Amino acid sequence: MKVTVIGCGYLGATHAACMAELGHDVLGVDTEDAKIASLSRGEVPFFEPGLSDVLRRNIDAGRLRFTTDYDEAAAHASVHFLGVGTPQQQRSHGADLSQVFGAVESLVTRLHGEHLIVGKSTVPVGTAAELSRRIAVLTAGDEATSIELAWNPEFLREGFAVEDTLAPDRIVLGVDPARTDSKAEGVLGELYREIFEAGVPFVRTDWPTAELVKVSANAFLATKISFINAVSELCEVVGGDISTLADAIGYDARIGRRFLNAGLGFGGGCLPKDIRAFVARAEELGVGDSLAFLREVDAVNMRRRTAMVELIENACGGSVLGANVAVLGAAFKPESDDVRDSPALNVAGQLALRGARVTVFDPKAMGNAGKLYPTLRFAESAAAAAASADVVVVATEWAEFVHMAPEELASTVARRVIIDGRRCLNPETWRAAGWRYLAIGSRSEP
Ligand code: UGA
Repeated sequence: MKVTVIGCGYLGATHAACMAELGHDVLGVDTEDAKIASLSRGEVPFFEPGLSDVLRRNIDAGRLRFTTDYDEAAAHASVHFLGVGTPQQQRSHGADLSQVFGAVESLVTRLHGEHLIVGKSTVPVGTAAELSRRIAVLTAGDEATSIELAWNPEFLREGFAVEDTLAPDRIVLGVDPARTDSKAEGVLGELYREIFEAGVPFVRTDWPTAELVKVSANAFLATKISFINAVSELCEVVGGDISTLADAIGYDARIGRRFLNAGLGFGGGCLPKDIRAFVARAEELGVGDSLAFLREVDAVNMRRRTAMVELIENACGGSVLGANVAVLGAAFKPESDDVRDSPALNVAGQLALRGARVTVFDPKAMGNAGKLYPTLRFAESAAAAAASADVVVVATEWAEFVHMAPEELASTVARRVIIDGRRCLNPETWRAAGWRYLAIGSRSEP
């Protein structure tokens, strides 16, 4: 089948490549020339394991192309996926929908005949209804044109984007409740046939439910992380072990162990912005109290970053002024080069503001980190970052940091002090090699 994918960022580029992988004839559309040029060459403009292989394979097979031209998009297909960004607004913390509205207007004004637009972006509840009103205005008087709008939210994780798109936990489809002639389910059934054949659960619902499913899932994950981090604040005071506690409560299948890793907390382009937009939308709708707890989820999360900085200060004798601090990790999580709202970089920045000489190393995110924090120093390897360090901080749990040899690192540092911001190291191994080991979520040594 022929499809277009409007918006070729993380979500759109992955979706376009994966739709082509399923055998469809795909045209990716974006307004950014550089992005389209790079994707057309088969180069993914961000780090995502496996994605460039899928991209190249399908470009070579002639099933995948990219363009900045909306006329071409309108002519290419009658099914159009919408995967543009919905960033956080500076003031209100609500979602900025200008890209969604802009893309739909650019497309719809060029469409003739029957078309299906399938929204994939994470949007505030009520967006599909608003878009539908706008589409009706844009097509008023054109009897020959009929545009259906459906919402099919995306649940992919960075680092697992291809896997999550081709083998998702579920597929959710929200359709216009007032429409009796909806074709969306049939079309998606055909487009995703291979995925459905693998037995993936399917939830057919209305627009607001589909929109809410997506933000609720992210809000729940964020709540789980902040829950364990809140309890870790008690462990820090009484000397309990938060990792053992998480194991123990996680054995209860109703709770589950995943997303109960205490540490520096959540960051990235989704969880933080999504919970804030969810709260903002609830307030707009007059039910702010219902989601007021998400403000606390956010506050607990942000507090972890300050707690980490204080832990590092204490390890340096009360102040980091003039101290050499190696920060290992800049990406918001491993297997990603994304530094948006990264807890690791936030900590590095706070330390620099307090007068530390901070040297950062990350296996993939150095370029992005340098653009965001040009004043930090960057090293070529973990060992180089740790040279003459008074304290080494693990801020993102990349496998190469988890498996670092304490003896090797010991020869380059000024003092053997390691601070585990992700509770990913084995304390015994480090202590046995003569290091002072401290972790966020544990009581500090006297
Ligand atoms: C998240 C969701 O997991 C996806 O399902 C969703 O589709 C996506 O947002 C989105 O809305 O697009 P992602 O932002 O890629 O995916 O990252 P996660 O794997 O969810 O991790 C988020 C943050 O939580 C990271 O900073 C990670 O370090 C942190 N985290 C995760 C913890 O601090 N503790 C944990 O136990 C798990």
